[in-house]
Amino acid sequence: VRAGFLQFRPARLDAAANLAFVARALRGAGPGLVVLPELALSGYLFPSREALARCAEEVPGPSTERLAAICRAEGLHLVCGIAERRGADIFNSAVALGPGGPLAVYRKSHLFADEKELFSPGDTGFAAVDVEGARVGILICFDWIFPEAARTLALGGAQVIAHCANLVLPWAQAASVTRCIENRVFWVLANRTGEEEEGGRRCRFTGMSRVVGPAGELLAESGEETPCLATAEIDPGAALDKRVTPANHLFDDRRTDLYRL
Ligand code: ACM
Repeated sequence: VRAGFLQFRPARLDAAANLAFVARALRGAGPGLVVLPELALSGYLFPSREALARCAEEVPGPSTERLAAICRAEGLHLVCGIAERRGADIFNSAVALGPGGPLAVYRKSHLFADEKELFSPGDTGFAAVDVEGARVGILICFDWIFPEAARTLALGGAQVIAHCANLVLPWAQAASVTRCIENRVFWVLANRTGEEEEGGRRCRFTGMSRVVGPAGELLAESGEETPCLATAEIDPGAALDKRVTPANHLFDDRRTDLYRL
C-alpha cells in the first residue's frame, strides 16, 4: 500500500480554494492513502464561533462530496481534517473517504488551548477503519500527547495511524517515532505550514510531516515550510507482529494488573 501525506498551508475560511488546491496537488497521486492536515478546508484560527459555524459542514456534505470526487478521479483514499457541524455542535473532525464517500468520522478527543471555546469535545472514541487493505486509526493533532489514544487504537487493531495536525508545539514529530516503537504501528503525520494571526493570537505551524514505520524508521519526510506530497510503500501486515524480541510481545507483556491507580 502507498501511504503518505499532503502538507500545505490552508487558505483561511475558504473551502473552495482549499479543495481546488487539494485537487491540483493530488493529480496523478493514486492509488493509495493520503492524509491531509487538521482543519484542512478552513484554516485554524477563527474570528468568532459564528465565523467557525459558517464554514463548518455536515458529513456527508458538499466538501466531502468534492473530496470523494477527487478519490474517484485519482483512485485514492483520503483522511482529511474538517470542521464538522452536527446539530448544535461543531467538532474538530477528520473524515476517512474513498470513491464512494465518507467511510468513517473521528472527532478530536483532546482539544488544544482555545479550541475548547470553539469546539465540542469529540464523542466518537477511537476506532480503526479498513482503508486500502489496512486498518487505519485516526488521531487529530494534540491527541498525540496522550499515549492512551494511540495505544487504544493499536489495541483495537489499527495498523496505520493517520494523524491530521496543525502542530504548534515542537514535540510531536519526534514523539511519532516513540508512538510507533511502543505500538509497532505505521504513523502518517500530515501537518500544515505557515502562520495565522487573529485577534492578537498568532500561530506558527511546524510542517515536517512524516511517515514512520513500526520500528520507528523514517520512511518519508517533508520540510518545515514548503507544500509537499510524499508517500512510502508500506506493508500494513508488518504492524501485526508485536514482538520486540522473541520473548517480548508489546501487548501480551503488558502488566495490566499493575496499571490501576
Ligand atoms: C493542535 O492540537 N492543533 C495543536
